[in-house]
Amino acid sequence: MPESKPITIEVDLENGTVQGKRTNGETFTYSLDTPEAFAAISHAWLRCGWDTKYVYSFTWLGRPIIQLPEDLIRLQEVIYATRPDVIIETGVAHGGGLAFYTSIMQVYGGRQAIGIDIEIRPHNRTAIEAHPLASMIHLIEGSSTANEVVEQARSQIRPEDTVMVILDSNHSYEHVLNELRAYAPLVTPGSWIVACDGIMQDLVGAPRSAPDWDTNNPVRAVETFLNEDASFELMEPEFMFNEGLIQERVTYWPKAFLRRVR
Ligand SMILES: C[S@@+](CC[C@H](N)C(=O)[O-])C[C@H]1O[C@@H](n2cnc3c(N)ncnc32)[C@H](O)[C@@H]1O
Repeated sequence: MPESKPITIEVDLENGTVQGKRTNGETFTYSLDTPEAFAAISHAWLRCGWDTKYVYSFTWLGRPIIQLPEDLIRLQEVIYATRPDVIIETGVAHGGGLAFYTSIMQVYGGRQAIGIDIEIRPHNRTAIEAHPLASMIHLIEGSSTANEVVEQARSQIRPEDTVMVILDSNHSYEHVLNELRAYAPLVTPGSWIVACDGIMQDLVGAPRSAPDWDTNNPVRAVETFLNEDASFELMEPEFMFNEGLIQERVTYWPKAFLRRVR
């Protein structure tokens, strides 16, 4: 798939084509039955979804979950294949992510989801603590990069546990890099860290974006971290099932899945 992103697209449903121009000035015309057409339209759809706050419209088992459904399906595939005993999530918000992880963990016998947030609002805490899966959830309030918070999370982990980490709190370069450095040692070989919302780098100029997002974003933090720590590799999760033509994720989490390889 071309690296340069579409900057304009015009979809012609009558003739079954999409035409457009890329950031590098190239123009394109694709038939709608091609992965290239799907990628161009998906790129525009992701931007439109960002501007309309599409991801702020879902719940998982009763709790709001601020994620793109496709990202959740792919994450579910990775969790079910990896079968972590413990999942640590930074950035809890309403707790939908914690309900999501524990509902999958319950199926294969996972033990605990640890949710860390700088502010767990009282109504969210009450609802999470009353949730049917609450016995599998451990909440920690504090900044995810504070030493005492990392230590509290570490104290919940048993030596035999397989551990996965999902970073979805403050998405600035510096914060994500510090989270990667802090939580990487807790991840077991073969398991994953997922650094969410790398889409920020493609959203500069959109409403609800900041001009520095081209560099101040999770993808750059991942790149810096990978240069420091050879025990992790960027790895696209394998599609577990695919009888279609599409080989790439439609995602708010590009370059997000880091696997611990040693
Ligand atoms: C995008 S929301 C998380 C969404 C959630 N993971 C879900 O699936 O619904 C981001 C959350 O990160 C929290 N947050 C921001 N800065 C933080 C920090 N330094 N440490 C921990 N949490 C933080 C915010 O309070 C907010 O609840």
